[in-house]
Amino acid sequence: MERLDISLKNVNEVYDGPEGVLWELIMGEQIHVGGFKSSMMLAQNAGIQPGWRGLDLCSALGAGCRFLVKNFNVSMCGLDGTQTMHAKAQARAQEEGLADRIEFKLGDVTEIPWVDNTFDFVWGEDAWCYVNDKARLISEATRVLKPGGLLVFTDWIEGAAGLSDDEARRINSFMKFPYMENQKGYEKLFADNSLTLLESTDLTEEYAGYVDLYIKMLVDQLSYDALKIIGDNLELFQAMGGEMAFMGEKAHEGKMGRGRFICRK
Ligand SMILES: C[S@@+](CC[C@H](N)C(=O)[O-])C[C@H]1O[C@@H](n2cnc3c(N)ncnc32)[C@H](O)[C@@H]1O
Repeated sequence: MERLDISLKNVNEVYDGPEGVLWELIMGEQIHVGGFKSSMMLAQNAGIQPGWRGLDLCSALGAGCRFLVKNFNVSMCGLDGTQTMHAKAQARAQEEGLADRIEFKLGDVTEIPWVDNTFDFVWGEDAWCYVNDKARLISEATRVLKPGGLLVFTDWIEGAAGLSDDEARRINSFMKFPYMENQKGYEKLFADNSLTLLESTDLTEEYAGYVDLYIKMLVDQLSYDALKIIGDNLELFQAMGGEMAFMGEKAHEGKMGRGRFICRK
């Protein structure tokens, strides 16, 4: 798939600005498809154990870290490259009385600022689609895992039916993704890093239903709030709705979706 010239700087513009707030309105503090339910399934499938130390790559508001600390009694580190997200993550961990069990760092996930063999698991939810150099991301994640540690994540992926170049360009430009990996592409990256694949699940059908849900929420319930976030720009609101509808259409065609992946180092 063609890679768009989108860097962390472009992603920062989204998550430092109104678009990031809009994603929180639609998805909640856990800015990923399926929220709590999806995180629970991911953690249970991976067999996350009390006392483990984890690293959330692209931790955004830190809700993934808070979820894991509260429900799985682990300690967490979170790495995110956007200043606004980093500051909010720290503040919200403090507000929930969890700051002593979560450490957040500001930085790029392709240059992870921790030493080798540090973590029992590396975690990610619906965010690595923003990363251009996914080979580097997976090799960095592998480096900081302890031997036997788990790589555990969900991500937006290109579906098995495949997007045309025009379709991919339209979706990736709107979402600010350089490109989306596909299931086979991720599996190759795991093999390149000598990771043992434990789970690779295509969640595309379920994903399509979520896109429908988000559009329905925006149109039937949250229009005022969404418009307020984007400066009451009705034209922009309608244009964004059109792009989301296009993504929904492609998801129902099996051309874009989401996957869940678990590997062992
Ligand atoms: C969809 S949000 C992540 C949501 C989060 N995983 C959750 O479940 O709540 C995407 C996040 O990825 C971060 N991000 C994107 N590319 C990054 C990179 N190269 N390095 C660090 N953070 C990055 C953005 O700053 C943003 O906060």
